[in-house]
Amino acid sequence: MKRNKYVIANWKMNITKSPHKVIDGVSKHLLKTKKNSCRVVLCPPFTHLATLSTKYKNLDFGGQDCHQHNEGAFTGSVSAYMLKSIGCNYVIIGHSERRNYQKESNHELRMKLIVAEENKLKIVFCIGEKLNQLKIRDKILKKQLSALPSSFNTKNLIIAYEPVWAIGSGKTPSVDEIDRAHIKIRNILNQKYKRKSTNISILYGGSVNSKNSSNILGIKNVDGALVGGASLDKKEFCKIIDSSSR
Ligand code: PGA
Repeated sequence: MKRNKYVIANWKMNITKSPHKVIDGVSKHLLKTKKNSCRVVLCPPFTHLATLSTKYKNLDFGGQDCHQHNEGAFTGSVSAYMLKSIGCNYVIIGHSERRNYQKESNHELRMKLIVAEENKLKIVFCIGEKLNQLKIRDKILKKQLSALPSSFNTKNLIIAYEPVWAIGSGKTPSVDEIDRAHIKIRNILNQKYKRKSTNISILYGGSVNSKNSSNILGIKNVDGALVGGASLDKKEFCKIIDSSSR
C-alpha cells in the first residue's frame, strides 16, 4: 500500500514580515521541481489564510486549529466550516501547544475531529509524549488516539507523532525510536480501523530541519513531516520538501 507523503508547515503564531515571499518561494519551487512526490501543505496564522489560499491555487492550506462547533457565540474562535469556506482543505487538531495552553481534553478533541470530518477537511491529528512520559509513551499514544471516533472516514485522517520534548528544542529521538513509535501508532490504528487504517499517513514532527530531514523522512514507517520553526524560512523549507522525494 503506497500512502501519501506530506510535508506540512506549521507557522504557529509567528510574525513573518513577508508571508507572501515565503509562500511565493515555495510555490515557485514546487512548480519548478515538479518531481516532488509529497503533498505540501501550509498552515499560516488565520489572519493570512484567506488571502494566501485565494492567491496560491497550486498550494494546499490548512488551519492550525478549529472550534468544535460550526458557528455560534464563541468569541475569538474559527470553525471548520469557516476554514472550508475560504478554500482550506486541511486542519491541525490536538497540537501539544493547544493541549497544554488551552487545556484541550480528549473529549473536546473528539468533537473537533467530528466537526472537521463533517466539513470534509483533511485532519492532521497530533499526538506525542512529554519528556516525563517517555517510559509510558505507548500508553500515552494509545490514550491520545482514543479520541478518534471508531467510525471515521480514515481517508481524511493524518496522524502527526510529535514528542513534546522535541518540539522547538533542537532535539529529536533517534531514527530507531521514531520508527518504533510509528510502528506502535500503526498497530493501534490497525486494531481500531482494521483494513481502513492502511491509508492513514503517519508524519513525524519536532525539530525537523534541512539537516535531519533526509534521515527522518527516509525511515520506512514515516510518511512525512510536520515542520514548525524551519518552515518559516523559504530555503530551509524547500530543502526539507526536496529531501522527501529522495
Ligand atoms: P518545530 O515544531 O519544528 O519548531 O519543532 C513542530 C511543531 O510544533 O509542529
